[in-house]
Amino acid sequence: MSPDRHAAVAGLGSALPDRVVPNAFFESIVDTSDEWIRQRTGIGERRFAADGEATSDLATAAARRALETAGLEGAQVDLLICATLTPDTPIPAAAVWTQRKLGLTCPAFDLNAACAGFSFGLSTGAAFIESGTAETVVVIGAEILSRVLDLTDRSTCVLFGDGAGAVVLRRSETPGIVGSVLGTDGGAAELLIIPAGGSARPATQETVAARDHAIRMASGRDVFKRAVTEMAAACRQLLEKTGHTPEDVDVLIPHQANARIMVAVAERLGIGQDRAVVDVEQIGNTSAASIPIALDRAWRAGRLRPGALVLLTSFGAGLAWGANLIRWSVPEPRQ
Ligand code: ACO
Repeated sequence: MSPDRHAAVAGLGSALPDRVVPNAFFESIVDTSDEWIRQRTGIGERRFAADGEATSDLATAAARRALETAGLEGAQVDLLICATLTPDTPIPAAAVWTQRKLGLTCPAFDLNAACAGFSFGLSTGAAFIESGTAETVVVIGAEILSRVLDLTDRSTCVLFGDGAGAVVLRRSETPGIVGSVLGTDGGAAELLIIPAGGSARPATQETVAARDHAIRMASGRDVFKRAVTEMAAACRQLLEKTGHTPEDVDVLIPHQANARIMVAVAERLGIGQDRAVVDVEQIGNTSAASIPIALDRAWRAGRLRPGALVLLTSFGAGLAWGANLIRWSVPEPRQ
């Protein structure tokens, strides 16, 4: 890497579908309660996309806002990356539909690391800039998870929501993306899985009847434990690698899966809860979109000041996890 080639966040935005789905909706279809969902997850409601709305619609709205805050035109974008596990179509990629809707002409591709997708996308986008391959990259996390839910499975259907978040990365003389750590453990691949619809088990009437195109979680408890362990370890590793300590972190934004997981990660790191962003109550778990949505909402709420050290960390199916450290450089939003 040349010493003057770094990547920094220049703009950000997010988009949520209009339909609000409160916990009460699930009380009418499975054996659950608002109280149970709130206590175990911190989730009170989530958004579900309308019929006909696709992942690229949300991705396009989020990217448009990100470009606006960066003060950039679409023609200045060199690369578009969309992290998603719910693309509009198997081919072309959600990034391609998004490119078309934004009227861009740059290369565009999807990246699937499930709920850790934004960590992988941000690292990839930064690497393109640091290597001299691009000057400006749009990184999006976007999901319509309501299309891959089994609404008869109470252990998963209450957890997820739809939405998109995007950041614009630009070449910078000082490091904005200070460093990243990524990890994968294929040994636990069956813990969180959509069993059918790929080359191993293509769609058949049987797979549809068995609801094998929906997210399956073998053990919520095991996912919970691994999520806390891996996110805390990735953060520690990244802080050490970049010469920082948890005390240096101004804002921690973990993957917004579950409030108890986020509280536990902050505790393990010794980062006070006042420095952790827990924004799952109205959004639910939006997988690859959760971090950029939380980042955008925290920035718009005035929680991210230029110069702040922001630590992002994610975990999800794969298993896959990651952490990114950002020296914040986007001015506070105009009120
Ligand atoms: N409503 C009521 N009861 C429920 C529900 C529900 N929606 N879901 C599960 N239960 C029941 C279980 O059946 C079980 O009943 P039993 O004791 O009679 O067998 C009981 O609640 C306790 O189940 P546990 O799984 O032990 O409950 P736990 O306290 O671990 O909470 C939860 C479950 C919320 C899923 C938790 O384990 C969790 O959040 N895990 C992480 C899962 C996650 O976030 N997955 C998303 C993808 S990965 C990611 O994004 C990190």
